Amino acid sequence: MSDIILGIESSCDDTSAAVIADRVLLSNVIASQDVHRAYGGVVPELASRAHELNIVPVVSEALNRAGVKASELSAIAFTRGPGLLGSLLVGTSFAKSLGLALDIPIVDVNHLQGHILASFVRQKDVPVREPKFPYLCLLVSGGNSQIVRVDSPLEFTFLGQTIDDAVGEAFDKCSKMMGLGYPGGPIIDRLAKQGDPKRFTFAKPHIPGLDYSFSGVKTSLLYFVRDQIALDPDFMEKNKEDICASFQKTLIDILLDKLIKAAKQTGIREIAIGGGVSANSGLRNRMLEEGARRGWNVYLPEFKFTTDNAAMIAIAGYFHYLAGEKAGLDAAPVSRFADF
Ligand code: KG4
Repeated sequence: MSDIILGIESSCDDTSAAVIADRVLLSNVIASQDVHRAYGGVVPELASRAHELNIVPVVSEALNRAGVKASELSAIAFTRGPGLLGSLLVGTSFAKSLGLALDIPIVDVNHLQGHILASFVRQKDVPVREPKFPYLCLLVSGGNSQIVRVDSPLEFTFLGQTIDDAVGEAFDKCSKMMGLGYPGGPIIDRLAKQGDPKRFTFAKPHIPGLDYSFSGVKTSLLYFVRDQIALDPDFMEKNKEDICASFQKTLIDILLDKLIKAAKQTGIREIAIGGGVSANSGLRNRMLEEGARRGWNVYLPEFKFTTDNAAMIAIAGYFHYLAGEKAGLDAAPVSRFADF
């Protein structure tokens, strides 16, 4: 008999529920929150209210699409953190209540582990292609920029991480600064496709080891745009494609420099990426190019698994469930974990 897991994700501004049977995805429903667009960033109070509205319909829809009755579930996996506390509270409380009502175990999942394990979600009629252990995962999202060594679905080691902003934050803040809109990543990605990545250069950090820094490149862009607009008020409008292409290339160079270093240091050639920024077309192309040049096996998640989704929470929860790990009814959400 299959283990059927309901995954619930509510760490930021997407309410998502997914059902997997063993490792095979049966449904993955995501309700995104457009309400934040007007504010140029996620407003935590509005996010938790939207989760509260969405959680019951989203879970019902996920069960319906999967053709699974609540009584057939083996366990419920939910994101316990990191994320916005008010948002996490909705998913955590819902998982606990449903688990109690159905008398089935609940499993708490670290959202970052979900992103890292997204490649293990299997889909009907899609050939299985999964990284072999140990592998390196470049985890890049709105809140994280890390290189993680993964030795098993339950063993993760940070090799490097950002000491200031996350790369997604750099995309978002710079897009806002240039008046391009929110969320910045997809907008800059789209404009960059039409621009010249070599036209402008921006400062790159010199951080020892495998850590990242993105605050310098952000400041470099800020001063550059400010100075150029002082000379020509239409500079942004005339050059936005080239600015985006050059800025995106700088971010990708920074990410890849350290990833290449990590691969050399560890001798690992199984390389995956995860997190919202892994949707970036420039980064995906560059990963494939470097992979071909360096003999890496590169694993790029499908677009639907790059941003926040409950399928990745269900698969991470499934591995914990198999290992006999469960959460208690006193499980409380956390905005940050000190470690994995
Ligand atoms: O993983 P995610 O959905 O949420 C967390 O931060 O946990 O990632 C959101 C981030 C945002 O910063 C967004 O701008 C970025 O992912 N993003 C992208 C692209 N699509 C989403 N960044 C660059 N290029 C994209 N195509």
